[in-house]
Amino acid sequence: MTVFKDKSKIQKHIAHYKAQGITVGFVPTMGALHYGHLSLVREALANNALCVVSIFVNPTQFDNAEDLKKYPRTLDKDVKLLETVSKAIIIYAPSVEDLYGADTKVEHFNFDGLEFEMEGRFRTGHFDGVATVVKRLFEIVKPDQAYFGEKDYQQLAIIKKLTEKHNCPVQVKGWKIHREESGLAMSSRNIRLKPDYKRAAPFIYKTLQAAKIKFGTKSAKEVTEWVEKQFAQHELLELEYFSIADIKTLKPVKRKSKTKTYRAFIAAYADDIRLIDNIALN
Ligand code: PAF
Repeated sequence: MTVFKDKSKIQKHIAHYKAQGITVGFVPTMGALHYGHLSLVREALANNALCVVSIFVNPTQFDNAEDLKKYPRTLDKDVKLLETVSKAIIIYAPSVEDLYGADTKVEHFNFDGLEFEMEGRFRTGHFDGVATVVKRLFEIVKPDQAYFGEKDYQQLAIIKKLTEKHNCPVQVKGWKIHREESGLAMSSRNIRLKPDYKRAAPFIYKTLQAAKIKFGTKSAKEVTEWVEKQFAQHELLELEYFSIADIKTLKPVKRKSKTKTYRAFIAAYADDIRLIDNIALN
């Protein structure tokens, strides 16, 4: 398993393969890998002879210093887990200096309004930070395909928009949400859940499933009110937002249309851990 910490070295290594016409599949991560990440890696390997995984806790996408400090960092464990999939995976695990240089400057982007909905309303500057790092990673790795999980559905939509607007020569692929047996969406943050909260957290997905059924006969407003009530009565989980949104604009639906496709999105706190999840509605 090759772990690169230095961007000039990994660039040279990848260029050698690309010169032979080998395509590169890329899975950007912040580490603390779980089976959801591994399924992205397997998909990248199924479609490309070379798979690069980046492991980098990106400081510019955190709006909360405490959250950044507590974010799990488990590089040795991550390397071992990736080895179970293939020893040929190339890992890029840079320092902040290697990736950003002397100054961790954030670029400001216009994503046609996608950035102002949901996560954008509650995490100021988050998507500028994500897009800054992903754009830099694309410039370093030069992937042919890049894989992102649908748990961060808004992030996926924004990265697709980024590549479109900035003419990045990469195909962005979304991949289905991986769930624990309980239904809880897999997330690097789950390992920080205390037992009571871990038991409570599957309520998020159960509520999304029930909301999906209700959306068949009820309006978005009625479903939203119902979900808010369920969380208001819950002892451990605190709802930050629930939104039924048009998948093209991510704007909340006012009136249902048969020609549009919708998804329901939740962000909720389990203690101090912020969890997100979503479900396709039609
Ligand atoms: O989804 C993540 O883990 C991060 O937002 C990403 C895409 C690796 C950028 O830091």
